[in-house]
Amino acid sequence: MNFETLLYEVQDGVALITINRPKALNALSPLVVEEMGRALETASADEAVRVIVFTGAGKAFVAGADIAVMAGYDALQGKNFSIKGQRVLNLIGQLPQPVIAAVNGYALGGGCELAMACDFVYASDKAKFGQPEINLGIIPGFGGTQRLSRRVGPALAKELCLTGAMLDAEEAKAVGLVNKVFPAEDLMPETMKVARSMAEKGRVALREIKTVIEEGYEMDLVKACAWESDRFAVCFSSPDQKEGMTAFLEKRKPEFKGGL
Ligand code: CAA
Repeated sequence: MNFETLLYEVQDGVALITINRPKALNALSPLVVEEMGRALETASADEAVRVIVFTGAGKAFVAGADIAVMAGYDALQGKNFSIKGQRVLNLIGQLPQPVIAAVNGYALGGGCELAMACDFVYASDKAKFGQPEINLGIIPGFGGTQRLSRRVGPALAKELCLTGAMLDAEEAKAVGLVNKVFPAEDLMPETMKVARSMAEKGRVALREIKTVIEEGYEMDLVKACAWESDRFAVCFSSPDQKEGMTAFLEKRKPEFKGGL
């Protein structure tokens, strides 16, 4: 796959997508957003991809949407850019594969929004998170006001968006934005180790766990549990369930081949 602004490689069942505009701290231009969408569609359709990892080249994860491009926008162009960005980030939640954000540095504005759109977040101890759009006279536009308040509660979301303050990696972990913090040099090896170990698990169960948690989160508990029962049932028509349980009983490692 050839991209101008991304590196895309698949190895051991893991698609690694690196946003690669280090001179602009990986700012999300319209082309980056479009290529991220294409990379996600490619990974989603690829049977060999079981897990996706996003990271950034150089010292930033993503320092936000591209301010140089947005500076000339009128209201309609702003709206269109917001819709395009949201569409791509919403797609992450709809993919069958889990998506991990490996946040290596600044995750600001659209970068924080990208991290929050991923299924979970690992961060380097050098990472910084924030929604500094207020300093530009705008508001977050790629879902940040909504995802941040769902992640950390409305009061902290309001404080972060209204002040533009940044959180370091440990602070972000303390408030539930980040799952784990690693020393900078360990971030990618540790993330890839987890991603590869997930890639060895059953494709159907990976997909169903992601989907049931993602969709059930907004439902009431009884309906969400009924939804879980339906998806639990679906697993029993997959070869992975037969293999997983047989392997357990035979005291061997399962070999999940997918299907369904
Ligand atoms: N868009 C375009 N270019 C950016 C950028 C962005 N979001 N962030 C950084 N850059 C560029 C800088 O302009 C600079 O380019 P030049 O070398 O050509 O001057 C280069 O990247 C390096 O940046 P700095 O010199 O500023 O690096 P620093 O280490 O001194 O500071 C920083 C790092 C604190 C992250 C600072 O770059 C910064 O504040 N960036 C902007 C962060 C921001 O406001 N993000 C929100 C954008 S709006 C948004 O994302 C809306 C949305 O919800 C979709």
